[in-house]
Amino acid sequence: MIPPHIVDEIMQTARIEEVIGEFVSLKKKGSSYMGLSPFTDEKTPSFSVSPSKQIFKCFSTGKGGTVVSFLMEKEHYTYPEALRWLADKYGIVLPEEKAPTAEEMAAHTEKESLFIINDFAKNHFVKNMFEHDEGKAIGLSYFEERGFRSDIIKKFELGYCLNKGDDFTLAAQEKKYKQEYVETVGLVKSKDDRKFDFFRGRVMFPIHSITGRILGFGGRTLQTEKKVAKYYNSPESPIYHKSDILYGLYFAKNDIIKYDNCFLCEGYTDVISMYQAGTQNVVSSSGTSLTKEQIKLIRRYTKNITILYDGDNAGIKASFRGIDLILEEGMSVKVVLFPEGEDPDSFAKNNSTTVLEDYLKDHAQDFVSFKSEILLKDAANDPLKKAELIRDVVSSVGLIPDSIVRSVYAQEVAAKFDIDEDIVIAEIAKSRAKTIEKKAGETKRAVNVPNTSFDTTQTSTPTQKHTEQVKPKATDQFDSSEFELIRVLVKYGVFAIEIPSQDKDGKEITIETSVAELICHELEKDELTLDYPLFNKIHSMVAKGLEESTFFQPSYFLRNEDQELVRLVSDIESEEYELSPSWFEKLKIITQGERDKLPRLIMDTVYSFKVAKISKLILEIKDKIEKLSEDENADFSDLMSQQIRLDSARKVFLNKLGRIYQ
Ligand code: CTP
Ligand code: MN
Repeated sequence: MIPPHIVDEIMQTARIEEVIGEFVSLKKKGSSYMGLSPFTDEKTPSFSVSPSKQIFKCFSTGKGGTVVSFLMEKEHYTYPEALRWLADKYGIVLPEEKAPTAEEMAAHTEKESLFIINDFAKNHFVKNMFEHDEGKAIGLSYFEERGFRSDIIKKFELGYCLNKGDDFTLAAQEKKYKQEYVETVGLVKSKDDRKFDFFRGRVMFPIHSITGRILGFGGRTLQTEKKVAKYYNSPESPIYHKSDILYGLYFAKNDIIKYDNCFLCEGYTDVISMYQAGTQNVVSSSGTSLTKEQIKLIRRYTKNITILYDGDNAGIKASFRGIDLILEEGMSVKVVLFPEGEDPDSFAKNNSTTVLEDYLKDHAQDFVSFKSEILLKDAANDPLKKAELIRDVVSSVGLIPDSIVRSVYAQEVAAKFDIDEDIVIAEIAKSRAKTIEKKAGETKRAVNVPNTSFDTTQTSTPTQKHTEQVKPKATDQFDSSEFELIRVLVKYGVFAIEIPSQDKDGKEITIETSVAELICHELEKDELTLDYPLFNKIHSMVAKGLEESTFFQPSYFLRNEDQELVRLVSDIESEEYELSPSWFEKLKIITQGERDKLPRLIMDTVYSFKVAKISKLILEIKDKIEKLSEDENADFSDLMSQQIRLDSARKVFLNKLGRIYQ
């Protein structure tokens, strides 16, 4: 367990905007930051981070909370893991912890275990390469011959898997890692009774997640025989999904944001060489054709992608699909073609940093001219083929969601092929109609998902939409008056208010108290508790705090391990977005500075709560009476008197509320 004072230190040191900035490209907007939600594939930013409150809110999913909640959501960390990650980032020293034993590991979730094994493997391969004779002579010297600098080799954590065949297998056994897990991540293979290193005799490229954890490996053979596959890659596993991984993104993300562009190349070595040459906003799709998921990963940081092609790449035409996918995501795509015989790796190695930079700048073509050029080579002077080519380019333009961008490209196509712009526009419209039709067929099916009670469609007004997301999940039944009570308790608990009262002689006086004390006292007086477990928990925390004369600022709750609680409190904290309609008027008065309205607001809330609670009790009693009346011998005088008592109490509170009794 991490001691509470360390938790406090971590929470006070961590800057939410900094941490989330590692995952999401954030732009300052007023006092907060906005970005694209990392939880959905939205195209307009609805993800907000408040540095002053140290909370985030995702309006498209309703997720929200602290920096810890974010890491738990995003990286699927447990509470202590998220804290450890932050401690690590901010250099906060945690009390000594032993390396996990085999038993402790078994208790870890499978995913966690797989990460631990990969991390161990990465370190093992690095150690082999720098310390083992074979590693030095074969692995390290291979990278050195390729021209990789030692700082770069270290940075990318390159390594070597000994050729012995069972070196890693034995090392993993010694660590008592579960055989099943070691095989799940593909590091060890078994054939009959024999177990062996999958990557034996290969140099190793660990593949990092955007937070730097090891998802898997690429292992390159050093043999030149054609029969042997040049690369082995980790198999699909719970932590390795090749279609949503980009090699190098962990190292590139800051520069991608900085330069608002991402270079995309084909292989591990392209990324490393470009990076070494100083162009560090570079990633690769590592042998797979570009997927939608990979594009979305990039879109978190920039809307601009520049694809880099080898000069003699035979697969360029096959890559057109990738261009279309990028356009469809509303991103802009450029292309750089390297001179014949060169790929990003060789070009970066053979030229200076500035020559590389200039080349990338000068040779970046937009997709229209690039595609046309490639296709024109085939079409030559064949008018039919040329018409085909124009249609092909036009259909790509038709995929662009933004109409203004689309019309800019329409102009370009018209100019390039010297045809009437109106014809191009008409063709684009046709091609769009086709895609829309296709999409509609898909969405018709998608609409049939089970309905949730909260309407989050675009048609709802912003206030409504956001209000609904403040509240706990639709399936959890709770009373709105309970929610409002908790809301004022959290938000105004530490505020002092003056309320009219009477002294023991019945003289009118005003007493000063805190909102928390007042609310807890009012509930205690009538022996009322809150039904909804989360609200009840908060009320108990506050009541217990008061017994020890402790008042809790909202930030106190944000340190709690219970993330449902954290989310509720952080939603209450970000009230400017999420006022429930019934609250809107009242809170507006307060934010306008009329603090003297606070007592009225609090009492209003307390009485509303009491009325609701008592009404509920009355209903329960009525229900009981009804059931009992089927039994002739039943005695419901007790219930009747309870009901009468509650009815009159209800009347009292309704009167206090100044409402008309019905
Ligand atoms: N690749 C693969 N399996 C292969 C060949 C290639 O997974 N058998 C993937 C690798 O991710 C590789 C990328 O495709 O990085 C590009 O292939 P290639 O250009 O052949 O590899 P490089 O990484 O450039 O390696 P090198 O320069 O050492 O030949
Ligand atoms: Mn290469």
